[in-house]
Parts: sequence; C-alpha cells; structure tokens
Amino acid sequence: MSAEATALKLVQQPSLRESLFAKSDGYRLYQGDSLALLEQFEPGTFDMVFADPPYFLSNGGFTCKNGKRAAVNKGGWDVSRGVDEDHAFTTAWLKACQRVLKPTGTIWVSGTQHVIFSVGFAMQKLGYKLLNTVTWYKPNASPNLACRYFTHSSELLIWASPKPAAKLQHTFNYSKMKADNGGKQMRDVWALPRTGDEELSADESGRVWTMTAPRREEKAHGSHPTQKPVSLLERVIEASTPEDALVLDPFNGSGTTGVAAMKLGRRYVGIDMDEQYLKLSQKRLAEAERAARR
Ligand SMILES: C[S@@+](CC[C@H](N)C(=O)[O-])C[C@H]1O[C@@H](n2cnc3c(N)ncnc32)[C@H](O)[C@@H]1O
Repeated sequence: MSAEATALKLVQQPSLRESLFAKSDGYRLYQGDSLALLEQFEPGTFDMVFADPPYFLSNGGFTCKNGKRAAVNKGGWDVSRGVDEDHAFTTAWLKACQRVLKPTGTIWVSGTQHVIFSVGFAMQKLGYKLLNTVTWYKPNASPNLACRYFTHSSELLIWASPKPAAKLQHTFNYSKMKADNGGKQMRDVWALPRTGDEELSADESGRVWTMTAPRREEKAHGSHPTQKPVSLLERVIEASTPEDALVLDPFNGSGTTGVAAMKLGRRYVGIDMDEQYLKLSQKRLAEAERAARR
C-alpha cells in the first residue's frame, strides 16, 4: 500500500480522527491511552514498533543529577501500581502491539531492570519470538548514591517478531549493519559516536552500543525526562525496517522515534497521553521532516 493510501486510511477512521493531534505527509500524532487507541488500528498495520514504556521507577527514590541528589520523579505515568498490575499493563499493551504488527514486522522494547523482565516474560507468554536482547551501554551514567550497588549504566532492548514462523520473515538489514560495523557482524552490545566530537576507542567503536544521552540540539524545543538519543533510534530503524516502513511508537514521549523515522524517510505514528509532550514532538517532527526534504 502506498504511503498516501496508508495515511488516508488512518485519518478516515472516525474514532482515530477524534484523537488526531497533528499530522503531515510523513507522520500522525495521536493523543490518548495507547491501549484504547491501538484497538482502532487494523491488524497488520505496522512494519515496526518501538516502545519505551513506563519503567515504574518513580517511587520516591533518589538519583544524582549534575552532581546533586535529586528525586526520581519522571511523572505520574511512571509510578508503579504493584508488580501484578504493572505486569498486567505490560501484557495488555504488548498484546495490542502484536495485533497491529505485520507478520513480517518486529517490535523493539527498551527498558531497565524495573520493567524489562516483565516485558520478556509477557512476550514469551503471548507467543512472540525473541530475536535479540541488545545491551545499550551508557558511558555517562549517574553515579550510584547509595554505594550499595554497581552503577547502573546500561539499558536492554528486546527485539522480537510477533509470532514464531517456520521460516523467519522479519526484516534485518544485515549487510547495512555489517558495513556500519567496519565489515564485521554487528554484535548485540552497541556503541555509537558519543557527542560527535569525541573519538571512540577502538574497543568501543561500532561494537558496543555506547550512545550517550541526547545531544544538546536534540533538546532545542524542550525536553522529556526520559528522552532517548536519536542515534539509538536511527540504528534500530535502519536495522529492522524496509525503506517504506510505517513505524509505531505507542509511548511517543518527545517523539524521538518519529524524528529518526523522518530522517530515514520512513513514516510514523506516535501515541501519547500528554499534550505537552505531543506539542514538543510536533515541533521536533516538523523540523526533522523539513530537514529530510532539503
Ligand atoms: C519512557 S517515556 C518515552 C520517551 C520517548 N522514548 C522519548 O524519547 O522521548 C513514556 C511515555 O509514555 C507516555 N505514556 C505512559 N502511559 C501511556 C499510555 N497508557 N498511553 C499513552 N501514552 C502513555 C508518557 O506520557 C511518556 O511520555
């Protein structure tokens, strides 16, 4: 189906039209609860889903920000409702994503230890086929204040197909990844250039995913408390989508997935409950789309 036809189909759905927040040729942003909105999409709509769901870690703890003790409070959406209720939520949105993914599509879910094991278990129960667990190493992680643990300096990304199939059907741009990694097979521990002006050591280069926090210019329109670096999403999209892909992020945040999709000429649908984050996303996406057309 052409990009135009898909886009048209999305806005023609009356229930979706009501939740439409912003649109352009390349993207649609919807405001609302993903669980309710995903039901309105037809089965097999998307080539790829990237989800950076609530981590359930905003529970009165402390972290270190700019060298000072700071409360971990990402927002009401990140508060845990207890292990069982959190897991039920994870299972529900993963099931909704499984329905809207094409059989040739894949899902990526990013998370820390607070949520990622629940995600993996729910995927296994739902019948997803796990493809990889990528470790994203963060070299500039905050120091551990309690000094009772190792410094948390990584995040895991689970990559999976919606269903197991006798013959693997998903897109993996193997040659592109290998070329990006200097002709060697890319590993499941990732490194990308840090801020653009630092050289990576030979050990880190291409082999370990060490993308740091988003660059300053990625926050030019404002920021989100858990904003991902665009470089991380660029790699995810380049690795696992065809060039005309329609990408979904059911926890859009500041729209980083959409920004990467625009840069790479893919199409994008983002959903978030929060109006302020959607306004920020709209600015970022419009700028990325304009830049890609130049
Ligand atoms: C971890 S953040 C995503 C950050 C994003 N990856 C970025 O780079 O900016 C999760 C987002 O999910 C949204 N959210 C949480 N629960 C939701 C739900 N049930 N439906 C829609 N959005 C939700 C929150 O408002 C928040 O912006």
